[in-house]
Amino acid sequence: MLWNTRRWTVLGCVGCLAASAVLAAAVLGTWHAPAARAEDRVSAAKASTDPALERTREEVKMLDDLYKNAVVSITRTYIDRDDKQPAIMVAKQVFSAMRKQGWHSARLVDATGEPFNDENAPVTDFEKAAFKAIREGKPYYEEVVGTGDQRRLLAATVVPSVMQKCSDCHTSKKVGDVLGFLRYDLKVR
Ligand code: HEC
Repeated sequence: MLWNTRRWTVLGCVGCLAASAVLAAAVLGTWHAPAARAEDRVSAAKASTDPALERTREEVKMLDDLYKNAVVSITRTYIDRDDKQPAIMVAKQVFSAMRKQGWHSARLVDATGEPFNDENAPVTDFEKAAFKAIREGKPYYEEVVGTGDQRRLLAATVVPSVMQKCSDCHTSKKVGDVLGFLRYDLKVR
């Protein structure tokens, strides 16, 4: 499975995060997962008996790379611990715009059990199941709901503290710890 090759978590590397070079590698490995090799994509496509679902999973991966790269870049470029508008607030505005345009629904959900903003706590059954899976150490969790042309892919991808700037504000978590997940809801088509 392609998902197994992706590393959205750096939990295994917590002990080696002291060296800045390693930290940079962890950030890149976590938020900028390398593109799947072309032959992997081909074999995954061949193995799939459900091409629409595979396409939707690819869309989630693309969106996840886009949102996570944007949040990391904005944080690195503009944000320090005294800022009242963390990058995640910009992401929330973009999520809202995308939903209004009818593209997809995305939401940042807490996985610490103590969110800064209670609105970010898991609400739906899917978010509660994803909360459990992500806290158990899974980097990805999904469910397919509905039938026929009403099918939807619900997906959750882990959001760790990927750089010191995250932990400067989220002080209860160190770099490498899980902070939350992004929850996606996309039509399968
Ligand atoms: C300037 C301080 C600051 C920085 C830097 C920051 N955050 Fe946050 N973060 C916040 C605030 C404030 C909220 C609550 C936002 C809201 O009102 O929804 C939040 C919310 C979150 C949440 C949702 C759970 C919760 O606590 O409400 C996650 C997950 C999260 N941030 C991850 C990150 C990651 C990953 C980084 C680094 C790329 C990061 N944050 C950097 C301040 C910060």
